[in-house]
Amino acid sequence: MTDHHDTNGRERTRVYLTGWCDGLPELHETLGRHPEVDLVGHSESVADGAGALAGGHLGAVLHATRSASLPNDELAAIREHSHAPVVLLASGEATSLLEDALDADVADVLLLPQLTENVVFAIRKAAHAGRRAAARQGRDGRIVTVFCPKGGTGKTVTATNLASALAKYQGKRTLLLDLDLQFGDAAIMLGIEPEQTIQDLVTAPGELDPDKLAGYTTRHACGLDVLPAPVRPEDAELVTEQKLTRLLEVAKQSYDAIVVDTSPFFHGPMLATLDRTDELLLLCGLDVPTIKNVRLSIQTLELLSFPSERIRVVLNRANSNVGMKRSEVEAALEHKVRFELPSDRAVPLAVNRGNPAVLSEAGCDFSRGIRDMAKGLLVPEQGKAKKRWLSLPTRA
Ligand SMILES: Nc1ncnc2c1ncn2[C@@H]1O[C@H](COP(=O)(O)OP(=O)(O)OP(=O)(O)O)[C@@H](O)[C@H]1O
Ligand SMILES: [Mg+2]
Repeated sequence: MTDHHDTNGRERTRVYLTGWCDGLPELHETLGRHPEVDLVGHSESVADGAGALAGGHLGAVLHATRSASLPNDELAAIREHSHAPVVLLASGEATSLLEDALDADVADVLLLPQLTENVVFAIRKAAHAGRRAAARQGRDGRIVTVFCPKGGTGKTVTATNLASALAKYQGKRTLLLDLDLQFGDAAIMLGIEPEQTIQDLVTAPGELDPDKLAGYTTRHACGLDVLPAPVRPEDAELVTEQKLTRLLEVAKQSYDAIVVDTSPFFHGPMLATLDRTDELLLLCGLDVPTIKNVRLSIQTLELLSFPSERIRVVLNRANSNVGMKRSEVEAALEHKVRFELPSDRAVPLAVNRGNPAVLSEAGCDFSRGIRDMAKGLLVPEQGKAKKRWLSLPTRA
């Protein structure tokens, strides 16, 4: 593993280099050895660098151009994969580019040759400004928690598919957090083998911030970031309520959506998560024991003062012909069913292949249900707000 800090203990700025211009080989060479820069790689074409740009947790992108004017196509291609600030490099003749760049979404333009220290300063300044802009933007991610008090009802299937759909089809920056701390299998269902888990994150020294969080997540090919459960069940207790609270606060700053998979218990970290949950997907099935336990959970949630309008009942395997109807579930729970997911053979097949159905079998009924759910979540309920105004008591 590379050391992420320079000799002064400062975080090295991660940089990816794209494009080409005169003087670039020399700069590449000196940047590669510079203690304050972590040069992740170089590809002349932006497309070849897509993976590193998207998953590289970059502080800045350096793009070298031979064009005398602004390389709009390349900049757009970079923006498709990365939100990191872009520093343009050009050779000495490209002076007209400087004018154009004033209005463009670029952090800086440097005409080569330059002293390496000038380039490093521009990189650090751009990365710093980028971090501040992200903090100011105050991304306020929504926390969507998937829960059911019974095991095997489809929590992990729902959480992994929903998170993949939000990332891939809704273009949301999405984190999947596996809070089934003892026996979490979200990573397996996604077919990834992460090197780090939530345990590494909570036992790491120092304060957690968005940059640090980025260093512990694993990127799935669909664009989703994943923070898996600890590898060994006995390590679950290391994830304390306090650590989890901080983790969720930081995740809200970096993501649009945080999807949380859970275990069938109201343990400490789960209560801390409920405290911050915006939408609780409460899974139910068409069987009496599950309905009974979901009903008990709703009562517990009431005792915990969890706002009942944040509960979304999801009926999984809704098409199963087992002598019970949706309306009976709604009557027993005293809650409307908000989403339905059909029982679908594609689901267990996809689970065993380690590739969520919504990605591998996009056309199947289950995947359609998941995509509807992804669209229906995270939207402010304007209708509701209006109704509340209308129902205010009026005096004659
Ligand atoms: N809609 C569905 N159609 C077909 N199979 C399903 C569906 N939902 C869940 N399953 C199957 O049920 C199994 C259990 O689902 P899952 O692991 O998601 O449940 P869980 O609630 O996370 O269980 P646990 O409480 O053990 O974590 C999965 O292997 C999956 O194949
Ligand atoms: Mg599960």
